[in-house]
Amino acid sequence: MDIVVSGIRPTGELHLGNYFGAVRNFLRMQHENHCYFFIADYHSLTTHPTPADLHGNVRRVLVNYLAAGLDPEVSTIYIQSDVPEVTELYLLLNMNAYVGELQRVTSFKEKIRKQPDNVNAGLLTYPTLMAADIIIHHAHKVPVGKDQEQHLEMTRTFANRFNRMYGVDYFIEPKAYNFGADLIKIPGLDGSGKMGKSEGEGNAIFLSDSPEAIKKKVMKAVSDSGPTEPNQPKPDAIQNLFTLMSVVSAPETLTFFEEKYNTCQIRYGDMKKQLTQDIIAFTSPIREKIEAIDSNNDYLRKVVESGAEKARTSASKTIKEVREIIGFKAF
Ligand code: TRP
Repeated sequence: MDIVVSGIRPTGELHLGNYFGAVRNFLRMQHENHCYFFIADYHSLTTHPTPADLHGNVRRVLVNYLAAGLDPEVSTIYIQSDVPEVTELYLLLNMNAYVGELQRVTSFKEKIRKQPDNVNAGLLTYPTLMAADIIIHHAHKVPVGKDQEQHLEMTRTFANRFNRMYGVDYFIEPKAYNFGADLIKIPGLDGSGKMGKSEGEGNAIFLSDSPEAIKKKVMKAVSDSGPTEPNQPKPDAIQNLFTLMSVVSAPETLTFFEEKYNTCQIRYGDMKKQLTQDIIAFTSPIREKIEAIDSNNDYLRKVVESGAEKARTSASKTIKEVREIIGFKAF
């Protein structure tokens, strides 16, 4: 079985865009591979969260993933900071990572632009920490979006460099785990772009949203007065409603409203009512699980402890071998 490693940013609550973008793929992967899923809380320190936000966001994202179906009996689910072996490998990899190459990383250059007052060394060495996350478990595959491809390329560079430097064939080169056509970009409700947390109130539907909240958001979604001629292409905001419907509703429902649109008989109020109902049907079982898991701290603690134990078993074996290769020896 292939080993898969994936880091999850502790962003707090998950929305439908996260679900169809990442979570659903993780659910499929977990049975076909040996998966390590961890919450990248060390990485998040580059933006200086408050202690309360740090813990809160880690907890929320963990609860959401478990409620959505990530199975701690099948996968190894852990919190990055519970596995200190990662930081040792990070230190060791940093000795062979060159400042010049780190400065050329696109995400670093973007951060310099976005947070010029906080260009910390953690940002510069973000790719070495990510490489440590991945190669500490000898991952074959890493599910990454476009924005992470360069980081994965750096991971291969660091793994190869280590092998060459010590004349060993120890680390393997992780490959991108691509889903290609399966990736559906979920639009937001404000008529533009994609569903996102920072795009403004009401743009995103969270898995934990109450039926009332969902209804309010969907009914307020941007639409227009409808087509005036048959079979016209759809304006963006309207296409967005249809895309949402295509992921949560039955195919017949989608066809029904497509036809109404093409014959200029569509009433967006009706379509939104249907969409509301189908989103609620889709998210309700997840929301109920979120509530149950959230109120069961003993369960959460057990998940996190057993995940850390499994991850540390794998990580400490790597560290022991790496130390020997590098030349740390007992007296
Ligand atoms: N950089 C990734 C992101 O922003 C998160 C991440 C950290 C990660 N370490 C990882 C992803 C290791 C995959 C493997 O989404």
